[in-house]
Amino acid sequence: MSSVKFWPLLPAAGVGSRMQADRPKQYLSLNGHYLIDHTLAVMLAYPRFEQLVLVLSADDPYWAGSRFAAEPRIIRADGGAERCYSVLNGLAALEGLAAEDDWVVVHDVARPCLRHSDLDRLFSQLTDPGAILASPTRDTMKRGISQGAVSVIDHTVERAQLWHALTPQVFRYGQLRQALTLCLRDGFEVTDEASAMEHSGRQPLLVEGRSDNIKVTRPEDLALAEFFLAQD
Ligand code: C5P
Repeated sequence: MSSVKFWPLLPAAGVGSRMQADRPKQYLSLNGHYLIDHTLAVMLAYPRFEQLVLVLSADDPYWAGSRFAAEPRIIRADGGAERCYSVLNGLAALEGLAAEDDWVVVHDVARPCLRHSDLDRLFSQLTDPGAILASPTRDTMKRGISQGAVSVIDHTVERAQLWHALTPQVFRYGQLRQALTLCLRDGFEVTDEASAMEHSGRQPLLVEGRSDNIKVTRPEDLALAEFFLAQD
């Protein structure tokens, strides 16, 4: 039997400036609980996960108020200046715990509406070099071009084969660490973990996920996330 493990890694060291709130968005209240607590509850309740890595700002004053602040299954790591540095710090915290071939499951803490059924689907299709949840683009897509203070349409982008990249994104521990390190060395801008793997010449699998797995980014997303969380 394979002893390959799954290690969730949750970057949660962002400031969430687009929320225009008085605190990082992971500590805003959703249905009476911190946003971060909803996401952690989903991950900690998934049977395949024993422990998880949580990347927090070193001087995070809010974490002590989380219902999971004393949770022994959480391994803490310190955040970095950009998301990719936060993820790398989280990977470093797994040194000596994770094997090279173990899977790391990177998930934005700002996506509290993730369902176990989406994790099931992702893992049932998981294959090398890794896979991400994604959702096919619904709207007609335009490429804009700046004209002074405004943007106008340059052209319509072919929608077939365009996907929104969601999380979780799942890669082998050793390969993901190497890929991120290579990007930093090359000065390549990492937008998500898949983009780092792509830069290494790999083609991760796209697994269709639910479109209610939203990333809370703007103030209007809070009510939507509360609505989705209240569904069965
Ligand atoms: O800002 P954005 O929503 O794109 O961030 C995605 C995730 O990455 C969030 O969970 C955020 O807390 C995390 N992040 C981080 N370290 C940073 C920037 C973002 O852990 N320096």
